[in-house]
Amino acid sequence: MAETRRKVLEVLNGKCLTPPPVWLMRQAGRYLPEYRATRATAGSFLDLCYTPDLAVEVTLQPIRRYAFDAAILFSDILVIPDALHRNVRFEEGHGPRMDPIDTDGIARLKADGVLSHLSPVFETVSRLRRELPVETTLLGFCGAPWTVATYMIAGRGTPDQAPARLFAYRHPKAFEQLLAFLADVSADYLVEQIDAGADAVQIFDSWAGVLGEDEFARFAVEPMRRMIASVRARRPSAKIIAFAKGAGLLLKDYRRLTGADAIGLDWAVPLSFAAELQKDGPVQGNLDPMRVVAGGAAMESAIDRILDVLGHGPLIFNLGHGITPEADPENVATLVARVRRGEG
Ligand code: CP3
Repeated sequence: MAETRRKVLEVLNGKCLTPPPVWLMRQAGRYLPEYRATRATAGSFLDLCYTPDLAVEVTLQPIRRYAFDAAILFSDILVIPDALHRNVRFEEGHGPRMDPIDTDGIARLKADGVLSHLSPVFETVSRLRRELPVETTLLGFCGAPWTVATYMIAGRGTPDQAPARLFAYRHPKAFEQLLAFLADVSADYLVEQIDAGADAVQIFDSWAGVLGEDEFARFAVEPMRRMIASVRARRPSAKIIAFAKGAGLLLKDYRRLTGADAIGLDWAVPLSFAAELQKDGPVQGNLDPMRVVAGGAAMESAIDRILDVLGHGPLIFNLGHGITPEADPENVATLVARVRRGEG
């Protein structure tokens, strides 16, 4: 079966591969000149996400250059608020903006029309599955309810998600309603991506690290569990990577409590702790993206250390967060070659 050669999928099924498969979060993006060229023709960033010709092209660009073991659908976690009519815009140099939601807005949220709004994304997924090399795992994704909610409440990115934390303390019922709503609509979105041809999906909880212990359980773990259960109820064999950035020690029971197959690790997770987490199943990560900017020994020594400590168990090599625009594409080539050293 063709699928058995998809290495990222094999690791998600619990296999240990030497060398491990490799892909990078945000591998399609501004560090690549060919991305910037396509981006310049697209109009707005959301036009790029919703034009299958262009979204397919930018997804394939890093695969052509580096033959990564996985391609990640080109889109954004904020297409969900966009489909919920929150007036999402990406302003040059300012990051994302949308209309901040309040308790009345939460009470009025409706899932009708969300999936039809997102139909270009499903077309992109099905075209990618046809156009990608047969051995490349295709990943779909969405944001976790907590992370998406932080942008919906603040109407923008903030350094510490203070607006969402404050809202959650002041309006706990409305906030939990928002998280449950996002969990359900995001589960529907992931099921459609899987049906369109995604081999596995990743759920990004990029802002998990600003939550206290109780809040992590209620706002990060519980909606993630609900979303994964909803996907699995309909697609029992769905493979799911959960990335709770900054969760630290709270990752200890995260896999068991959420039902995720694999755990994403940011660069602050100690490798000894990562090795403990790997005893229960696959892990993915955790090179500091700044080491890819630095290049040279700073990058290579850390790659070797990750491979030493985690390379004998189920590992998907990745960064601890997205690659940044300053990264030199040459350093990415060196990274991939180093991870694959000895292959063949
Ligand atoms: O990984 C990939 O290559 C697939 C594409 C992808 C994008 N965003 C493209 C993008 C993925 C998986 C995301 C996820 C995403 N988006 C997250 C979770 C992961 C993370 O990085 O924490 C979050 C929080 C967002 C929200 C978002 N989108 C922000 C805060 C920004 C602005 C910051 C920035 O980097 O510019 C975006 C815009 C965005 N999403 C860009 C890209 C390539 C840059 C915009 C552009 O090219 O004009």
